[in-house]
Amino acid sequence: MSDTPVLAPCEPGLLTPDDLRTLFLFEKLTDEQLRWISDHGCTMHMPAGGVVIREGDPATQFFVLLSGTIALSRRVGQDEVQTNRTEQRGVYMGATQSYLRDDGVPRTYMGGMRALDDCDFFVMSADDFGHMMREWFPMAIHLLEGLVMGMRTSAAAISERQRLQALGALSAGLMHELNNPAAAASRATGALRQRVAGMRHKLGMLAAGKVPADRLDALVELQEEVIERAAKAPTLTAMQASDREDELGDWMDEHRVTGGWDLAPVFAQAGIDVDCLDDIVVKVGSPDLLDQAIHWLGYALETEQLMTDIEDATGRVSSLVNAAKQYSQMDRAAHQWIDVHGGLKSTLVMLTHKIGNGIDVVKDFDRSLPQIPAHPAELNQVWTNLIDNAVQAMNGVGTLTLKTYREDDHVVVSIGDTGPGVPEQLKKRVFEPFFTTKPVGEGTGLGLDISYRIVVNGHGGDIVLDSKPGDTRFMVRLPLTEPSSA
Ligand SMILES: Nc1ncnc2c1ncn2[C@@H]1O[C@H](COP(=O)(O)OP(=O)(O)OP(=O)(O)O)[C@@H](O)[C@H]1O
Ligand SMILES: [Mg+2]
Repeated sequence: MSDTPVLAPCEPGLLTPDDLRTLFLFEKLTDEQLRWISDHGCTMHMPAGGVVIREGDPATQFFVLLSGTIALSRRVGQDEVQTNRTEQRGVYMGATQSYLRDDGVPRTYMGGMRALDDCDFFVMSADDFGHMMREWFPMAIHLLEGLVMGMRTSAAAISERQRLQALGALSAGLMHELNNPAAAASRATGALRQRVAGMRHKLGMLAAGKVPADRLDALVELQEEVIERAAKAPTLTAMQASDREDELGDWMDEHRVTGGWDLAPVFAQAGIDVDCLDDIVVKVGSPDLLDQAIHWLGYALETEQLMTDIEDATGRVSSLVNAAKQYSQMDRAAHQWIDVHGGLKSTLVMLTHKIGNGIDVVKDFDRSLPQIPAHPAELNQVWTNLIDNAVQAMNGVGTLTLKTYREDDHVVVSIGDTGPGVPEQLKKRVFEPFFTTKPVGEGTGLGLDISYRIVVNGHGGDIVLDSKPGDTRFMVRLPLTEPSSA
């Protein structure tokens, strides 16, 4: 197989110090230093098409191109993307960081290299190259180390901070969302307490009024009937409701029901009409009892409605808590087979507050999509970052479209917005770490970088941007099968 590098011949000393001096890397070195390099390096020949360096292999060698044309590449998801192609004599690659202090992380090749035609290289082992650099250029190495380590730690610190900020914003939004139903529930509970007290009072009055036992039975039965009717009542339009209230109010006046106009809306909402009230008169029997009976039924209906309100509010609270749980994946394994829709929906719930009322959310989901292998919590971070960007781009007004579909052996999640779009010259840059067009303090420029790393490195997928004014889409492609290298 031409895939294995051929070191032929690998005899140190084949390049003389004078040969080495013609390579720009070595031009300023002393004779003595060049002699040392000549003694420690050798030449290598690679026939056209051969793979010299495989991305991810341990970085054990340092290469300098002597002749021929090479192509450098990086793996992006399943694909290999050519990053450079050169025939410049003296270009170097491979273990270019072997002089850095060992930080315990095994060094690997960060990209691949292939010979496009017959190539010759000057090669040194990573150990020799590192030793030479540290011995001869100690000050330069300190500066370089400072630069590399500093960049790494600041990137780590900032991304940690960004994560905390995002979490803070999310929990603030969640608190706000929880506050509405909680306040509604406590309001309804207060009202319910009053109505129940009213019912007790009415019951006492009914009992004191020497109501015959069979009449009391009939009343209880009536109560069940109206409650059942209320549960099935169709919702009236505002117009219908006010007509109905007028009819009921008039009826109450005719029948001398005290405070009848206050009760009319309660009965109207419960789907009770004048005919129904006439039936009630018959069932109650004695006209003396009618006023008490109607009030009693009014209380029954109101308590029922209040209990439904409380049920809705507490249901909303627990669905929010569920969404938060599912969003943070508190009770799920890190890596598993998932349906992408669950995460998308819980992310939308978490971001409801941020999305606001001015933005229409369109969910165009293909429910028949198969499950995919994924880290659900990480994907939620991707949806959050993309939706966050879309919402910010639309500045509170527009349409957010979440679409899912299948394309070959990938599931695609597209997040679209109707904002101004990404200008052509910036399209390439938006995924770069720290690239932001937002004012200082508002964006760190890490949202897309983090998302890209999660999708491409973590899932073997890809993110593609398609944007024109009024129609911007970030499409996340996720493979249906486990990436073979993961
Ligand atoms: N939907 C979009 N419409 C228009 N521009 C966008 C959109 N999404 C991203 N961009 C551009 O890409 C830049 C980088 O986005 P990224 O999410 O990486 O960082 P940010 O949103 O600026 O900051 P952060 O996400 O860290 O708060 C944004 O500043 C913006 O200019
Ligand atoms: Mg962002």
